[in-house]
Amino acid sequence: MRHLMNPLDFSVEELDKLFDLAEDISVNPSKYAHACEGKKLASCFYEPSTRTRLSFEAAMLNLGGQVLGFSDASSSSASKGESVSDTIRIISCYADICAMRHPKEGAPMVAASRSGIPVINAGDGGHQHPTQTLTDLMTIRALKHRLNNFTIGLCGDLKFGRTVHSLIGALIRYSGIRFIFISPPELKVPDYITDLLREKGIEYEEVIRLEDCMADLDLLYMTRVQRERFFNEEDYVRLKDFYILNNEKMSLAKDDMLVLHPLPRVNEISVEVDDDPRAVYFKQAQYGVYVRMALILTLLEITV
Ligand code: NCD
Repeated sequence: MRHLMNPLDFSVEELDKLFDLAEDISVNPSKYAHACEGKKLASCFYEPSTRTRLSFEAAMLNLGGQVLGFSDASSSSASKGESVSDTIRIISCYADICAMRHPKEGAPMVAASRSGIPVINAGDGGHQHPTQTLTDLMTIRALKHRLNNFTIGLCGDLKFGRTVHSLIGALIRYSGIRFIFISPPELKVPDYITDLLREKGIEYEEVIRLEDCMADLDLLYMTRVQRERFFNEEDYVRLKDFYILNNEKMSLAKDDMLVLHPLPRVNEISVEVDDDPRAVYFKQAQYGVYVRMALILTLLEITV
């Protein structure tokens, strides 16, 4: 039985297969409409979510399966003190696959080690968010037709942003990737990541001003300042509007640069940018459903 805890749980070849399947699903959705008939997804969200939870649920419904679960830790037995290992043993009796989001780093791994069904990490604290990375890679592959040879700027909260940590880990397996980390000093990418990049000889730069690197970028990955992971509100308030991408800054970028964002957006991208054809964050959310459909089929070992 296979789980997904980290994007690296799949080899580059396996990811290619997964993206091919997701692409086929996007062109022939009716072919897959009954693929998961009789199967159930448990959607266990101990932390708020709109896109990830609903896109997992939509993915299972699009495959003809059913969904059960909770979207708030306070409505689950966690509020009575039940451990995730006990909860997953129970859920294994009710469902065929589980998507779990948890504020504690490592909680989905603990669940997976006790589970009788495949567990998908739908985000664990500030650690990893592998299905967002699958979504990001599929978006880049579909719109740029390659996953190698580009300069990517990651901007915003690089310290607490789990989507950034997962995406960097996944991208270093492709050749010719150059990273530009754009953040205030307080929200720099963790040392374990820059140590890894240095060890692997991967080119990266750390800058503070977005304007200083806009013209260099093939991709710009914007992120929200992760308020829920701050220790005090004062620091959050000081840093929350550090970056605001607007049309003026977009005018410095290449004509074919793409702007991605895992969403939700707060103020870091001005709504005026939404009409720019290079802004692909809403398309990205649509790719997220196809890639989660492909993932459910792959982990349940269902072929159509
Ligand atoms: C991200 C997350 O939950 O980490 N959202 C998402 O799943 N699309 C990003 C965020 O919350 O900022």
